[in-house]
Amino acid sequence: MLVPKQAGLLLTAKCQLLFMSKSSNVIVRPAKGLKGTISLPGDKSISHRYAMLGGIAEGATKLENYSAGADCASTLGCLRSLGVEWTRDGGKIVIQGRGAKLQAPSAPLDCGNSGSTIRMLSGILAGQDFSTELFGDESLSRRPMARVITPLEAMGAKITAGNGGRPPLKISGGHLKAISYNMPVPSAQVKSCLLFAGLYADGETAVEESIRTRDHGEIALRAFGAEVKRTPQGASVRGGQTLKAIEARIPGDISSAAFFLCAAGLFPGSQLVVPNLLMNPTRARLLDILIGLGLGISVTQLEEHHGELVGTVQVEGGSLKGATISGADTAAVIDEIPVLSAIAPYTRDGIEIRDAKELRVKESDRIATVATNLRAMGAEVEEREDGLKIPGTQKLRGAEIDSFGDHRIAMAFAVAALRASGETLIRDAGAAVISFPGFFDSLDALVER
Ligand code: S3P
Repeated sequence: MLVPKQAGLLLTAKCQLLFMSKSSNVIVRPAKGLKGTISLPGDKSISHRYAMLGGIAEGATKLENYSAGADCASTLGCLRSLGVEWTRDGGKIVIQGRGAKLQAPSAPLDCGNSGSTIRMLSGILAGQDFSTELFGDESLSRRPMARVITPLEAMGAKITAGNGGRPPLKISGGHLKAISYNMPVPSAQVKSCLLFAGLYADGETAVEESIRTRDHGEIALRAFGAEVKRTPQGASVRGGQTLKAIEARIPGDISSAAFFLCAAGLFPGSQLVVPNLLMNPTRARLLDILIGLGLGISVTQLEEHHGELVGTVQVEGGSLKGATISGADTAAVIDEIPVLSAIAPYTRDGIEIRDAKELRVKESDRIATVATNLRAMGAEVEEREDGLKIPGTQKLRGAEIDSFGDHRIAMAFAVAALRASGETLIRDAGAAVISFPGFFDSLDALVER
């Protein structure tokens, strides 16, 4: 069904975990349905935040189901260079917190492909009394950092960046002063960055957002014992608070679940169960959109773990109608738009995505990469500056397409390929390792031929 292909050799799916590298190609063949249960590695957004806060907390933070992705490994690598000791056994991680003060690194920190690592860690580094350089891969080196540089400089940090405010960054930290900041681009990474910096500032740092972004930073700070005030406009934190280590199991990543939920949606009669899935309301808008499209979804066993909602999701495939996604909804499902777009041609009425300019500055220009791949598979697509209009009731054909080094593009088009006619070869499909190294094996185990 799914065969990873590397250096011209066909490998069996079982070999994949051992051989998958970012440059591995994968062939996806059509499927007839999806059935089974899938447990997902821990949510990427929460994993980054727990690791960073664990590093500056007092005591040993013990985490289970830490994200398996390379991005969250980048965060751990940076923490080690900053003097934070940790041990890892698969998803189990024990982080020996150093308290607020980290150790000056002996070399620049490699953030890999991870925007979350460079942006959120910048907040903590702004409060350290040493200088740190941070860099990333080719994709990260193209991503805008002015959104964290401007407010961190207003707090008193000195920061230099590459051309156009892009990585590499050099952050000379020290004592910070609190600010009230209204984010011009609503971003959860920026909000967390500033709240983390706020721990090192005199006074109360407040961050306001015009569109509600994911609130894992606020929830995580509270889990680690900090007092965080929340208002409908944003959140604030008082400087000088001490964090205390936690023991937690990280809920399954709902953005990774999206690929399987959408794949199930492609085939009436499909049935999928996803236990221990993150149900945080700032992330679960996806489920409402999928219900609107025609999927049967129920959530049971809702529980709260360290302030985060977790539940078991059951999905039944139906016939897909259509949707227009705009405004706050677009922001709420920004990471899921590639896969929603990839299934759009198979819906009855198509999917229109509006207000999604941010997609142009993700791991790839996701408006362009989605449109290019859909067209390569024979679909009609209208590409707009801030969105896409993808008509429904289209048939896709298998083709040679590219991940463009973007994990979510690789996985989204593996889903599209399940209902195309013929085989699809996804070049550099191994990019999936950024958030979900086991993705192709997991999909292979669920699809019915
Ligand atoms: C994230 C926030 C979003 C999202 C990214 C993870 C986070 O980015 O796209 O994958 O964990 O805070 P922005 O903050 O740039 O909107």
